Amino acid sequence: MQDQLTALLAKAAAELPALKTRPEFEAAKARYVGPHGELTALMKQMGALSKEQKPAAGKLINETKTQLATQLDAALARIADAELAAQLGPALDPTLPSPDAGPGTRHPLTLVREEMCRILRKVGFTVADGPEVETEFYCFDALSTPADHPARDEKDTFYFPASARFGNVAQKVPGEKYLLRTHTSSVQIRTMLKGEPPIRIVSPGRVYRRDTSDATHSANFHQLECLYVDKGVTVRDLKALLDHIFVSLLGQDTKTRFRPHYFGYTEPSFEVDLGAAHLPKVKKPWIEIGGCGMVDPTVFEAVGYDPEVWTGYAFGMGLERLAMLLYGIDDIRYFYQNDLRFLKQFA
Ligand code: DAH
Repeated sequence: MQDQLTALLAKAAAELPALKTRPEFEAAKARYVGPHGELTALMKQMGALSKEQKPAAGKLINETKTQLATQLDAALARIADAELAAQLGPALDPTLPSPDAGPGTRHPLTLVREEMCRILRKVGFTVADGPEVETEFYCFDALSTPADHPARDEKDTFYFPASARFGNVAQKVPGEKYLLRTHTSSVQIRTMLKGEPPIRIVSPGRVYRRDTSDATHSANFHQLECLYVDKGVTVRDLKALLDHIFVSLLGQDTKTRFRPHYFGYTEPSFEVDLGAAHLPKVKKPWIEIGGCGMVDPTVFEAVGYDPEVWTGYAFGMGLERLAMLLYGIDDIRYFYQNDLRFLKQFA
């Protein structure tokens, strides 16, 4: 009987680890320990043994039973683990790089900014920069914007408290108020004070206004400013440049239109409308895109240029508005939400 029990355990040890499913396991278990199982059959042989043989045989059988039970438990645990693993899907290695982290895309505002700068560089402009924390001098005074002008109102402009400190973010002018620039026109002043004419700069950047956020407004948006100072500059040059950049950016069918307006820093001044009905989602024949004009003599005086010698034009426009036109985006808030479903559409 001992040989038979040893053979039975050896057989189980070979067979049980290969079982894959619960039904296979149940069938195997029945073959060993079920009512008609092999171990059960051996136990039944006990009856035929002599009184002396019985205790030793009983011990052997019990040991075998325990070992077999251990083997069966191990097989069942292995099958249960495999079932769970199958439910969980493929094995996960949290140390591997994410398969989703492919190359990023550039933000639509970056694309428009870069394209505008590329177009302007080709016709001789260089990119200039200025701080977002400005003083009233650069943002308003030097641009001939009088103290009572509505743009300077606390309702429209973010002013810093007098106690705020900024290191040397902006040039310190005693007693002057600091603010978040409301337009990139402040860079005109900084550039002219730093250098000598002729000047030809483009300055894209972030600006701030106390606007309530909705589909077309944001308290924080982007502008692109251009300034050209030379001898004998005329409105025709201004119009020609604007036509050129918008045709380059938005296509041959793009038109521009000037409407007389008032800005303290240009004379004459105009608002610029774009006719771009060929673009997707553009329903109106004309869309306001920015302001422009011929640099006012008082601005030249503020930076120490002789207005009898120098002439120039300047313009500023919203980059969000341009990107919305170019890509058919109908809500400015998409630009700032960092939703990958939006961002991934831009190359
Ligand atoms: N700064 C104006 C604005 O934010 C836009 C503008 C108008 C810029 C006329 C200019 C200009 O350079 O000459 O609405």
